[in-house]
Amino acid sequence: MFILNQKNSIANHFLAELRDVTVQNDRMRFRKNLERIGEILAYEVSKSLPFSKRKIEGPFGEISTALMQEQPVIISVLRAAVPFYQGIINFFDHADSGFIGAYREEVQEKGEPVTISLNYMAAPDITDKTIILVDPMLATGKSFMKSIQHLLANGTPRRIEIVSAIAAPEGVAHIAENLAIPHRIWTGALDEKLNSNSYIIPGLGDAGDLAFGPKI
Ligand code: URA
Repeated sequence: MFILNQKNSIANHFLAELRDVTVQNDRMRFRKNLERIGEILAYEVSKSLPFSKRKIEGPFGEISTALMQEQPVIISVLRAAVPFYQGIINFFDHADSGFIGAYREEVQEKGEPVTISLNYMAAPDITDKTIILVDPMLATGKSFMKSIQHLLANGTPRRIEIVSAIAAPEGVAHIAENLAIPHRIWTGALDEKLNSNSYIIPGLGDAGDLAFGPKI
């Protein structure tokens, strides 16, 4: 598992602003910080992808350089992932993308396990591809797992890179227990726990609402 804030970097400032109640209600800034963390995590993930030597024509002759062998497929879990996904796609210029609409059923009683519903999927063929599955909050891990189950209708990927801004240990464990496809979890920060409503503690609140406003 890769945890970005285990090493001090400018990313800590972006994460701090996402969580800070005196800053996080500035929606444009909230979205921008998610995008910036997405960009940094895309850079980190890129280091783990296969590269091979290629020749390019420079102004003063041929240059041999290592370039990515192929582009990953980026899958965004709507709606909260939109700005975070933008950061990832900013760096993987030529990647194909897919979109999944996942939401928490709001009917459960306080403390009941969350139920995730999917109501939309538009994704390319993912057979033998490296997938980057993007959702800023890895809380229970259920929306990630449900998204993966639906994605498998479009082929079996070679690897899945699971990318979040903030993760909870419960979600990390859920994925480790249930995902048989080779994968790695990448996160900005690994927080303490989930509360009885399955929100990440300390977390940042509701990422979708902070980015786009409350929904009814
Ligand atoms: N989704 C959020 O937006 N926040 C959490 O803490 C958990 C899931």
